[in-house]
Amino acid sequence: MTSDPAHTKGIAETFDDLAHDRCCKYKSKGLTASTEVLLGLLTENGLVGKRVLDIGCGTGFFALEALRHGASSCIGVDLSSAAIHEANEFAKESGLQDRARFEVADAASIQHAADIVVMDKVLCCYPDADALLKTAFASSSDLLGFVVPRDEGLMKPVMRIGTGLINLVERMRKTGFRLYLHPLRFLDKLLVDNGLQQSNKAKSRFWLVFLYKRAGPSATARE
Ligand SMILES: C[S@@+](CC[C@H](N)C(=O)[O-])C[C@H]1O[C@@H](n2cnc3c(N)ncnc32)[C@H](O)[C@@H]1O
Repeated sequence: MTSDPAHTKGIAETFDDLAHDRCCKYKSKGLTASTEVLLGLLTENGLVGKRVLDIGCGTGFFALEALRHGASSCIGVDLSSAAIHEANEFAKESGLQDRARFEVADAASIQHAADIVVMDKVLCCYPDADALLKTAFASSSDLLGFVVPRDEGLMKPVMRIGTGLINLVERMRKTGFRLYLHPLRFLDKLLVDNGLQQSNKAKSRFWLVFLYKRAGPSATARE
């Protein structure tokens, strides 16, 4: 499946509307449970001194947390220009602007060289998981971490019904935004076929957190 401009426009408009509130929520409540887990896994597996690419970075708080936890630099990309504006303002406010760069882009069509690539609750917002994952692992020389809906076991029916209801509302509101439950087996196969192996899997109430590593010795990603 390939993404068309109506999809990317729908995603950008949805997250433009939410950007300010999402930033305020993080400032008052901190990271969500699943994002804490992702950050913890990266810290355990070696975040210090690494270059981080945050795909679908939203308002940039994960990337900035990664810097506070020792990453050397971070790049965040997002379709939402309002989110990127918040991220750049937040980087300045935090005094981290020299090591952080945030830009508006469709991450499925660009690559950046990084040691660690993260996608926190992004695959479920984008129709073409294949394209997004391919650019993600092509950009990463070492680790790839991502968070997806907990679409397995007893939670599977809950996720299916919840996603159906959200998409029904989005259709009625005539937005271009939809949620996607990409099959977990498909995501794993794509990564394993391309030389990564799963090193960690963790759960929060509604989310699964995965960490993949390059199977062989770490190589420097292409610029
Ligand atoms: C649910 S939000 C998560 C934001 C942030 N990662 C977080 O955890 O708060 C999903 C984000 O992914 C972005 N996004 C979805 N598809 C994208 C793509 N192909 N390229 C860049 N950003 C994308 C959306 O604009 C949105 O900001």
